[in-house]
Amino acid sequence: MDAPNKEFALAGSLEELKAKGRLVVHGSHRPILVIYDRGRVFALDNRCPHMGFPLERGSVEDGILTCHWHHARFDLESGGTFDLWADDVPICPVEVRDGEVWVKTTFGHADPAAHWHQRLADGLAHDLGLVIAKAVHGQLAADVAPGDIVRQVALFGAKNRDGWGVGLTILTALGNLLPVLPKEEAYLALFHGARRVAADCDGEAPRRERAPLGSRPDPAALKRWLQRWTNVRHREAAERTVLTAIAAGVSPPELADALLAAETERAFADTGHSLDFINKAFECLDLIGWEHAAALLPTVVGQMVAARGAEESTAWRQPVDLVALCEEAASQLPEWFAAGRGAHSTSRADGWSHHAALARDLLGDDPVAIIDALKAAIRAGAAPADLGRSLAYGAALRVARFGTANEHSDWETAHHVFTYANAVHQMLKRIGTANTDGDVTAVRAVLHGAMALYLARYLNVPPARIPGEGGEQLDNLPADAEMIRAALLDAFDRQRQVDLAARLVARHLTLGHSPQALIATLARAVLREDAGFHAYQMLEAGARQFSAWGDTEEGRHILIAVARYLAAHSPTERAALQTADVARRLMRGGELHREPGAS
Ligand code: FES
Repeated sequence: MDAPNKEFALAGSLEELKAKGRLVVHGSHRPILVIYDRGRVFALDNRCPHMGFPLERGSVEDGILTCHWHHARFDLESGGTFDLWADDVPICPVEVRDGEVWVKTTFGHADPAAHWHQRLADGLAHDLGLVIAKAVHGQLAADVAPGDIVRQVALFGAKNRDGWGVGLTILTALGNLLPVLPKEEAYLALFHGARRVAADCDGEAPRRERAPLGSRPDPAALKRWLQRWTNVRHREAAERTVLTAIAAGVSPPELADALLAAETERAFADTGHSLDFINKAFECLDLIGWEHAAALLPTVVGQMVAARGAEESTAWRQPVDLVALCEEAASQLPEWFAAGRGAHSTSRADGWSHHAALARDLLGDDPVAIIDALKAAIRAGAAPADLGRSLAYGAALRVARFGTANEHSDWETAHHVFTYANAVHQMLKRIGTANTDGDVTAVRAVLHGAMALYLARYLNVPPARIPGEGGEQLDNLPADAEMIRAALLDAFDRQRQVDLAARLVARHLTLGHSPQALIATLARAVLREDAGFHAYQMLEAGARQFSAWGDTEEGRHILIAVARYLAAHSPTERAALQTADVARRLMRGGELHREPGAS
């Protein structure tokens, strides 16, 4: 018999349905469960929205359908769940015509983008990983721009937690990587970012809004105030100062200068996290739009003013007082930069370019000589951002040469310096010449980073050998690009493959294969794991720093550092990947489970 409408399929006769209680309609569409209950007929997706178990195996009582795999319960009429972790089950129209039961085989929403936007809001609010995954998938399928999803999640995170956190940092790091990710990885990246923001906000008190002042002081005064309030740990005053600066239209570079100057009132605060969070908040605004500055930027202030500085640490005071060394150098920065501007204007047309040489000086074992190297670079014309780039490369070399005989937790020490240095570099690039009043207070971040790098020198004793150096041949490894990348993923599948991962990265780059494809593979390696916070940071900071150097020896060292760190932290259980996969399969309409013998 022809269907009255091609979107409808015949489920069977009403008599048959009454006799059996339920029927399942299979076909090219998703399987549909038709249920007869107390004189009414209902039709819904036969795949449990939780994990896809066939709902035909469930039971119905008092209008409630129960799936017996994990015992989620659903309202038979609406499909709405009583157990939020399971998600709602899609329903579809059903009609009884001349004693026959017909069901509409297409599921859909009038406005899919709006529907999945709301579902993402629900998933974030209740920290529901599966709902988040489906909503991200649904939005992407509805052609919502990935940046719009980042914006929705970021604004949720800023509002529903009293301060910037790990989740927003991960979201931003992954948001930065979206342009180099294939479609499937972009889905995973957005899912991980959103789920980590939701987890951060779960059970937290929401943020309390503060207001800008009625006055509009000049940027220099606001910068001084912010340093003052940070010094005395006055959070409310610091937040109102930031809000006033935003309301006054202070430019993003000037805001960055003010925040970095305030942040460096303390040395390497909170092991560098505080500064890294500030940088990420700026990068997040680049992703979601600066019109959201008042919602986002104040969220970093609480941690900034409360952070514990390295000046309280014995390691920074004995046997050499590194804090005093930094303070002495900081007092001379204006003079050094003045000399550098002179050198620049008289002898250089193409700028200072000794980044790699300075980085190697920064890896020395004499803190006074390290400060002297920075002084010489500045006086020779190095701009603040040049110093940041050298610092970040030096820190990457610490990771690239990290000796695996160290304690495993020592990786984090090397990692902290690298991500801090990357953040310093990005902030100084952003500031550029915005500090035209000659106030280079923010460059203290480089001095602090250089000392943190010095203190981590023992991690390279003895130094790990960097593959490909000294003409080392890697001919025992594959030459084909895809084979190398497959071998790299295979290495990440096994524990303690640090050296092999480094060799494969070196092999890939020295043969001239695409660095972007390699970075996408490293991203895939992270996105399939239940990665720790630091893995996301390492990946993104490495990709950023690689972009500064390109496919050079230094760029190769940076990606080797990333691969070594990731290899030391892989594999994991991959539970989040399983959630993402289930959501993807449910969204695509395929059957996840089939009863033996089912047609
Ligand atoms: S409750 Fe149905 S599959 Fe888990």
